[in-house]
Amino acid sequence: MLISGRGSNLQALIDAVAAGTLNAEITIVIANKADAAGLERARAAGIETMILDHRGYASRDDYDAAVATELRNRGVSLVCLAGFMRLIGPRLLDAFPNAILNIHPSLLPAFPGVNAQTQALDHGVKISGATVHLVTGELDGGPIVVQSSVPVRDDDTADLLSARILIEEHRLYPEAVRIILDGRWRLEGRRLIRSPA
Ligand code: GRF
Repeated sequence: MLISGRGSNLQALIDAVAAGTLNAEITIVIANKADAAGLERARAAGIETMILDHRGYASRDDYDAAVATELRNRGVSLVCLAGFMRLIGPRLLDAFPNAILNIHPSLLPAFPGVNAQTQALDHGVKISGATVHLVTGELDGGPIVVQSSVPVRDDDTADLLSARILIEEHRLYPEAVRIILDGRWRLEGRRLIRSPA
């Protein structure tokens, strides 16, 4: 997993694995920030952690190649981004084709980028939500795996809406990982189509 901060989605995946509802192993958590609180969550769960600070690299390509090398060395098959505040370039995308997931706090394609919850409030939508999608070169633009809607209330603030969306995120991310690891899906253009069990 790649994180930059709080790591509550990481925690949701850790909990799902521990509860036996997600049949997976979280091999390593890499953060680009040494003070990412999520690192402590990973350590507490006995997961290997690594800090790769992007500022130590000359280019995005160099940084992404370093991340890809660490992940490949450990036999990682699926990369999960959760609050990882970096664009993913071709060196990492090509190392894990259709095998990088991201979670975003809106119903994409609405409100990509930062502060999605504030964007939703400011726009005046009545329903927002969360999306887990495959990562491509387009910011928050890859094929959608799962989404969940969250009503926007008249008295919402960005914090209140974020908190309600986050509850859905924590449910949604393990579900998305289950779907992708299960392998019974294909892409038709932008559409991720699941095969019957
Ligand atoms: C989440 O809202 C996620 O959707 C967004 O960044 C936030 C990360 O939160 N990409 P956390 O670090 O998982 O707690």
